[in-house]
Amino acid sequence: AALVAGSAVAAEYPTRPVNMVVPFSAGGPTDTVARSLAEAMRPTLGETVVVENKGGAGGTIGVSHVARSKPDGHTILLMHIGFSTAQSLYKDPGYTSESFDPIGLVLDVPMTIIARSDFPANNITELVEYLKANKDKVSLANAGIGAASHLCGTMFMNALGIELLTIPYKGTGPAMNDLLGKQVDVMCDQTTNTTQHIKAGTVKAYAVTSKQRVPTLPDLPTMQESGFDGFEVGIWHGLWAPKGTPKPALEKLQAALQAGLADKAFQERMSGLGANLLPDRANPEALAAHVNQQVPQWAELFKKAGIQPQ
Ligand code: MLT
Repeated sequence: AALVAGSAVAAEYPTRPVNMVVPFSAGGPTDTVARSLAEAMRPTLGETVVVENKGGAGGTIGVSHVARSKPDGHTILLMHIGFSTAQSLYKDPGYTSESFDPIGLVLDVPMTIIARSDFPANNITELVEYLKANKDKVSLANAGIGAASHLCGTMFMNALGIELLTIPYKGTGPAMNDLLGKQVDVMCDQTTNTTQHIKAGTVKAYAVTSKQRVPTLPDLPTMQESGFDGFEVGIWHGLWAPKGTPKPALEKLQAALQAGLADKAFQERMSGLGANLLPDRANPEALAAHVNQQVPQWAELFKKAGIQPQ
């Protein structure tokens, strides 16, 4: 009887709005994806998806919050590559891959290297020269250790052999506000946050981190073209539920994710911001396999680069 009652409850899922936790500030790139995805998943779920921003410590505060949340399908997590990198950047990030049931991969976003609109350098060559000559005067914004902006910024500084003063925020939403306000100098951030500002000319942009140029930002060279051999980083995003979420809820969430990725408005909004949707990998097996490949890969890379866990 208990089993029957249990599956009856699960079959009714969701019984109330679903919380989608974004482990960064509102107004940033993850939040932008989350708000569109929440809307696109709603028809399948038959309930509203409410985005909850829980920023801090490069995303690990929000991710570990979801790891500890009730596994009933009413709390889910949208996170990116930092889900895997933070596991070797922190001694104790407050979660492991095993703290979650994967739902699926969502999309992949290129990054852009940008600066405040009045920054002296006008192209990537000038930027490299300027940074090398003025490394003690330039500030680099990021969203904390474990964030995509931290990863890309670290790769960039390592490639140049310099160390800039880094200013951590709870997300690149507020970091972008300070860049627009000229309180900070440079940043590496996802096209989902930078495209509108690059097009408006309110920031300067130098390069994209994808293998190919980004169709929506055709004038920006790739890092590879700019002389940074092998400098390629894509910010994949995934959707997770806390470990132990009932199977019917996971299945409904996966169906909602797939319907969301097939939604025309979502597709147009995301491709307009330079993101590539991953409908073929929007399933638990693909996300689990990807994470299992990414965690040791980044651990190895950080070890080689001499980056110690905090
Ligand atoms: C954000 O949503 O604020 C970003 O994804 C932060 C980052 O990872 O750089």
